[in-house]
Amino acid sequence: MYEVSGIAGRVTLITGGASGIGAGIAQVFARAGANVIIGDLNLDAAHSVAERLKGQGGSASAVELDVTSRASIDAAVTLIEGQHGFVDVLVNNAGISSVRPFREITEDDWDRLMLVNLKGVLLVTQRVLGPMVERKQGRIISISSMAGKEGLANLAHYCASKFGVIGLTQSLAKEVAAENITVNAICPGVVRTPLWDDAQMGILNELDGENGWKRFVDGIPLGRPQSAIDMGHACLFLASECAENITGEAMNVSGGQQVH
Ligand SMILES: NC(=O)c1ccc[n+]([C@@H]2O[C@H](COP(=O)([O-])OP(=O)(O)OC[C@H]3O[C@@H](n4cnc5c(N)ncnc54)[C@H](O)[C@@H]3O)[C@@H](O)[C@H]2O)c1
Repeated sequence: MYEVSGIAGRVTLITGGASGIGAGIAQVFARAGANVIIGDLNLDAAHSVAERLKGQGGSASAVELDVTSRASIDAAVTLIEGQHGFVDVLVNNAGISSVRPFREITEDDWDRLMLVNLKGVLLVTQRVLGPMVERKQGRIISISSMAGKEGLANLAHYCASKFGVIGLTQSLAKEVAAENITVNAICPGVVRTPLWDDAQMGILNELDGENGWKRFVDGIPLGRPQSAIDMGHACLFLASECAENITGEAMNVSGGQQVH
């Protein structure tokens, strides 16, 4: 268990929490005593994660959520409000990727990434923000990427979406600071999840498998790729009272691979 002030009992909605980084964030918040809600397109997987966390003594539940649909978001958040009161902490984690040389990016590739990775953050945040403003309390944390601060070859559409998350974060942070709501992002380096390995969509399908992974991992100053739990720790800090004076930040969690 973690003892971090300002987390126990906090209703924490993690989008895309059924897999990879989101599941790691859920695990860390559950260990810290938060009331974790896993919102995901994949409801079965979200239930499995929630059951695992409950088995470890945490408080967790699952809700079906498509971050690209206002109707789905409204239904999910209304359910959460009915059962738990309010969303205290929102972690915008749901995201997708694909690797394409610039000239081969189709409009469909572009639109899908922007829809899930950027518009999804807008839509879910808009839904939870009203009650946060009314209560003058809230924490919003979005998962950008090291690709949100530096362009990477063959990932222009992904990078554009993740740069966008940081712009949205900085703007909203200034807009709602007076309401006692903080808005931050974290920028993961490389975490081996289905985003890399998925048989259909995985980045490594396009990147020469293990050689591609090695190119991303070699030379990380702290000597290892990141874990989903590393991301959970960063989010936990930003959600805690320890970070009450931090807003508009985009925190690297990349083992020193990115330092600006
Ligand atoms: N893995 C990495 O190395 C890495 C690095 C930097 C940033 N990120 C970011 O971290 C986040 C999580 O990535 P991951 O590696 O854990 O991926 P993942 O594929 O393991 O998990 C993504 C989750 O999001 C869900 N999801 C997808 N579309 C959704 C939608 N429309 N509505 C709700 N849920 C949806 C999926 O069902 C899945 O559970 C993403 O935003 C990704 O861009 C990942």
